[in-house]
Amino acid sequence: MNNPSQARKNLEYVDPARFTPHFAWKARGQAKEVYCEGVALPEIAERFGTPTYVYSRRAIEEAYDELKSGLGSLPHLLCFAVKANGNLSILKLLAKRGSGFDIVSGGELDHLGRIGVRGERIVFSGVGKRREEIREALRYKSSRKSAAGILQFNVESSAELEVLAEEASRQRVMPGVSVRVNPDVKAGGHPHISTGLHEHKFGVSWQEARAMYLAHRHARYIRWQGISAHIGSQIVELGPFRQALERLAGYLLDLRKQGIALKYLDFGGGLGVRYTKEQPASRKAYARMIAGVVRPLGVELLLEPGRAIIAQAGILLSRVIYTKRNSRKSFVVIDAAMNDLIRPVLYDAPHPVTRVSGKKAQSRARERMDVVGPVCETGDCFLQGWPLGKVTPGNVVALWAAGAYGMVQASNYNGRGRPAEVLVEGKRARLIRRRETQDDVLRTDALF
Ligand code: LLP
Repeated sequence: MNNPSQARKNLEYVDPARFTPHFAWKARGQAKEVYCEGVALPEIAERFGTPTYVYSRRAIEEAYDELKSGLGSLPHLLCFAVKANGNLSILKLLAKRGSGFDIVSGGELDHLGRIGVRGERIVFSGVGKRREEIREALRYKSSRKSAAGILQFNVESSAELEVLAEEASRQRVMPGVSVRVNPDVKAGGHPHISTGLHEHKFGVSWQEARAMYLAHRHARYIRWQGISAHIGSQIVELGPFRQALERLAGYLLDLRKQGIALKYLDFGGGLGVRYTKEQPASRKAYARMIAGVVRPLGVELLLEPGRAIIAQAGILLSRVIYTKRNSRKSFVVIDAAMNDLIRPVLYDAPHPVTRVSGKKAQSRARERMDVVGPVCETGDCFLQGWPLGKVTPGNVVALWAAGAYGMVQASNYNGRGRPAEVLVEGKRARLIRRRETQDDVLRTDALF
């Protein structure tokens, strides 16, 4: 990434309505408005209030299908990374389409339990699985008779493997296990979301992984069935993926020579999307490249995509509260804030902000403004010097590509209830999570 402090400053205007599938400008009476599928965004703002996350069902399904079609006939299971978006309705629509899931906590496992996802469609990643969480995952319902709980535990340390073996022996089950190997490849956007280097906390080195596989090859309560890796997030080029995958393939073959035959190669997630000017590899090209490397190995592929499925399928809808100007700058204060979408301040991530009604967005020279939220922090700023065009209080704006790591990272900071979420399916818009009330915000407080 370039100098991070510049990543949200004085950017060239882009209007994602022009390149985001299932969102587009359309005429509505005399006016032009941005639609999500068959529903106008200002209408959603009117009906459900703001700030509100809005998702296109078709966009989610299409992204999922694109990955699948790129994998072709290669045996595989796509395991959507629940951390990217944990809304139950969204998880359910993916489950219906055949998706598996990648979880990182007992909480996410509980989400899946509530919508009836079977254990054989779940992989469990994460560097700090607690004993109780491991126990729950071992007990989780599966329709495979002999199997224990979920499809696979991706273990990230010897210490975790010991706990898993202890718990499995207590329950007299034999879980499917993989080691998450850190392939030491540099990849990923912001330093906070790059994971595949030895300096990071994730996974173990190949030397250590190999020792783990060999030491436990005859263990009674561990069934080695896979090898896994995840090298980072918002990776827009195929090079680092290919490099890491080829290393992983080499490890797999080495283990095979040692008599440890694995059934699954889990290559994590990480494919990036377009926020502003990026030109990420397409989902299809990414999947094809992976299939090309994995096919000769004769194993089944697991992938854990999050962002590539849901980021562009969602926006955060907001309204302008005020505009103001001082001697140096102009500001647009909108009703969404860093508590609703923390990615800009946390990763310096640029989410374009555009109007969703009025004249079709023009990119001619316009006054540059800071787009800010109401929270009392200087960091509560989405974009600096952004040529938004003329806006007045009450105008509806969209913050684009907010479907992944948006709502899931929202908080109640400044006493703000978290936003509502709406799913659009053709001409229908449904509330899939209501806006939090002040009672919700205070529900767990005890008053002495
Ligand atoms: N698998 C594992 C083990 C992961 O750690 C992650 C993401 C994924 C899969 C999904 O990665 P994706 O396909 O979405 O890139 N909050 C940050 C992103 C953190 C990603 C953490 N791990 C953000 O807003 O950019």
